Amino acid sequence: MAAVDLSTELCGIKLRNPTVLASGILGTSNALLQMVAGAGVGAVTTKSISLDPMPGHNNPITVGFEAGLLNAVGYSNPGLHAAIEEFKNLEGMGVPVIASVIGRGVGEFIKVVEGLWSQGFAAIEISLSCPHTPGFGMMAGQSNPHYTRQVVAAVRRVTSIPIFVKLSPETPDIAKVAVAAEEAGADGITAVNTMGPGMVINIEARQPVLGFKMGGVSGPALRPIAVRCVYEIYKAVRIPIIGTGGVSTGRHAIEMLMAGATAVGIGTAVCISGLDVFSAVCREMEEWMEANNVSSVQELIGTAHELYPE
Ligand SMILES: Cc1cc2nc3c(=O)[nH]c(=O)nc-3n(C[C@H](O)[C@H](O)[C@H](O)COP(=O)(O)O)c2cc1C
Repeated sequence: MAAVDLSTELCGIKLRNPTVLASGILGTSNALLQMVAGAGVGAVTTKSISLDPMPGHNNPITVGFEAGLLNAVGYSNPGLHAAIEEFKNLEGMGVPVIASVIGRGVGEFIKVVEGLWSQGFAAIEISLSCPHTPGFGMMAGQSNPHYTRQVVAAVRRVTSIPIFVKLSPETPDIAKVAVAAEEAGADGITAVNTMGPGMVINIEARQPVLGFKMGGVSGPALRPIAVRCVYEIYKAVRIPIIGTGGVSTGRHAIEMLMAGATAVGIGTAVCISGLDVFSAVCREMEEWMEANNVSSVQELIGTAHELYPE
């Protein structure tokens, strides 16, 4: 059989393979993004960018447990103006770069997107879903259809590049939130952000490990929930999905594609296994596809819906 084709396309953005560096992992500088691009990833996402600099939560900001990671980074980032300076030369990156944007309200989202979108980013990702930062995401009630519609419609008016909306798994009906995003003009969905928040207690110290006490759960514990979210969103919208949550092998990536993802975000697995995870996932995908007579990623997307349609 001829070599398999791992390339995929997200609303006109061509990716050499479906792997995408998830936001918040190594995406703080141009040099780090370049390093990830060199490791064979299909596209990269920046750390989330806010209007003003944010110091983040007190250390420790991450803790491992048997089924993944808990993080309460608190969106530490140097703010819009520093990001404009840092990411001013994206041409040499070799892979599409997605800018992740956060805001305390519609006005802040607009200002950050206005400042960033013409810098050469392939897309903007609007993060409405962080579970552990006061003023943002779930702690500000941003994870619902009404707010999603408001933000996406406002941002749609100020940029012509593709908009992805990053959703939380902690919502009663994630498909409804995705539909609101699509109707307001989003070009794609990223599903999902971390779940929770959860807590890990150091029983010797008799106190929570994280500085913020609680944090978002990612990695293996999140994967089946993320797969279910992608499955439900795929049934409800026509725009592409970056399926994110617990992916660390080629089999996991194929599972996400079958649920309905067009590309696959990877975060925690990079923290745990390093940058080789991208080439390993691609190699394992190729092996599985060859063994199963599948010649392209296109042939996998959404196939878990076909056998027993509802
Ligand atoms: C240490 C850490 C930092 C993160 N920071 C962000 C962030 O700044 N913005 C965001 O939208 N998501 C952030 N996330 C969420 C990830 O992008 C991803 O959606 C989530 O971790 C699930 O994928 P995973 O299981 O592959 O990590 C962060 C996750 C981790 C583990």
